[in-house]
Amino acid sequence: MDERKNFAVAIDGPSGAGKSTLARSVARELGAVYVDTGAIYRTVGYCAWRRGIDPGAAEEIRALLPEIQVTMDYDADGLQRMYLNGEDVTKEIRLPQISMYASRVSALPEVRAFLMDMQRDMARRYSVVMDGRDIGTVVLPQADVKIFLTASVEDRARRRWEELKERGTPKDFGELLEEIRQRDYNDAHRAASPLRAAEDAVYLDTTGNTFEKSRGQILEIIKERIGQ
Ligand code: DC
Repeated sequence: MDERKNFAVAIDGPSGAGKSTLARSVARELGAVYVDTGAIYRTVGYCAWRRGIDPGAAEEIRALLPEIQVTMDYDADGLQRMYLNGEDVTKEIRLPQISMYASRVSALPEVRAFLMDMQRDMARRYSVVMDGRDIGTVVLPQADVKIFLTASVEDRARRRWEELKERGTPKDFGELLEEIRQRDYNDAHRAASPLRAAEDAVYLDTTGNTFEKSRGQILEIIKERIGQ
């Protein structure tokens, strides 16, 4: 360990548990940088989609990697922006069809290895609140605080339904429920860094919670451990 004063908070969990909104808000409160690692995988998923590559075609996805550059920065409002070969794709990676592409390409160990350095580099340079699926287990096993955030599949589908409606891209609730179940299955059953709680993670189930309640619980967990 170096003598850096940076701290790292890892927040892992399934899709739609509220990780990103909570992590962003908590990072702001703590003066840390929020890193959305799902956006990084989405950028590779988006690239496959745009080039018409089947996300399950492992050989083609592998062949794509040497040709692409995935980078990120933060705009004046502190929003994480994603770039694919220098092109800002921050908006495009949120298209509903990209969720499944991201989930599929993220199952490939080569994709995970390709994106590892940029994630670790952020934690070397800044205090971070980083959310994803394998942050506490693989990316930052030395994180100061690890939280595994989850909620019932119905609660998560409902939140996603509300979010998409607000964004102007509504989707059928039953379809969303099925998609979330499928993504949970993909993310938890892949061989490479499957979604699971780190042994030293605090498990937090937010089913039925208000945002404020979950936020308060997370801040309490963090403050207990790093005295921020
Ligand atoms: O968090 P999200 O829904 O934006 O992530 C999109 C997909 O990326 C998700 O289905 C699984 C994958 N992912 C991952 O494998 N590891 C991470 N650390 C973050 C996301």
